[in-house]
Amino acid sequence: MKIRNRHGHFNWIAPFYDRFFGGMQHRALFQHLDIQPGHRVLDVGGGTGRVTQHVVQLGGHVWVVDPSPGMLREVRRKGLPGVRALAEQLPFPAESVDRIFIVDAFHHFAHQELAARDLVRVLKPGGRLVIEEPDLRTLPTKIIAVLEKLALMQTHFYAPPDLAALFVAHGAQLVTIETENFNATVVLSK
Ligand SMILES: C[S@@+](CC[C@H](N)C(=O)[O-])C[C@H]1O[C@@H](n2cnc3c(N)ncnc32)[C@H](O)[C@@H]1O
Repeated sequence: MKIRNRHGHFNWIAPFYDRFFGGMQHRALFQHLDIQPGHRVLDVGGGTGRVTQHVVQLGGHVWVVDPSPGMLREVRRKGLPGVRALAEQLPFPAESVDRIFIVDAFHHFAHQELAARDLVRVLKPGGRLVIEEPDLRTLPTKIIAVLEKLALMQTHFYAPPDLAALFVAHGAQLVTIETENFNATVVLSK
């Protein structure tokens, strides 16, 4: 699959991204990731490395995976390792990664079933995958989903149980789903 950067807008918002979203808290994510020293970790759709810069402080080796050159420029500026790739076609061997997290990005992936399959493929048995997404069951997310459709953004949001089911279909197990305000944290293991 050829990398199509369908989300060119991420290139031009990249230099300002952290200024708008830098204050967001991700307590449930950090707790469920349970990162141990030496863990190999992927932040898929990791953007500027906004969340990764905090996760590296928990130990482990973290790579930001993202197709946007503009976002990856910000990753390098932070001194973090970035890989230009799609979630649908991860350039990592099968069962090579201990932890994967995806924050506010899954709804942007063009081929979500393929992404779910490849994410489960690279995860080690016993590994953990934590996804933070706006919860489609809440009114603010429903409104955002409609506005993004009107803006022709081609995003697709799921209710958290349906999101979990995509991964379970490829061999992952659901650990838990937690919700806070209009966000959901979906925790899966393999
Ligand atoms: C809203 S940003 C979130 C960035 C980061 N996770 C954060 O919370 O700060 C969504 C990111 O998903 C990336 N993205 C879009 N399609 C993708 C795909 N198919 N695979 C991996 N990343 C993708 C975009 O380039 C963008 O950086």
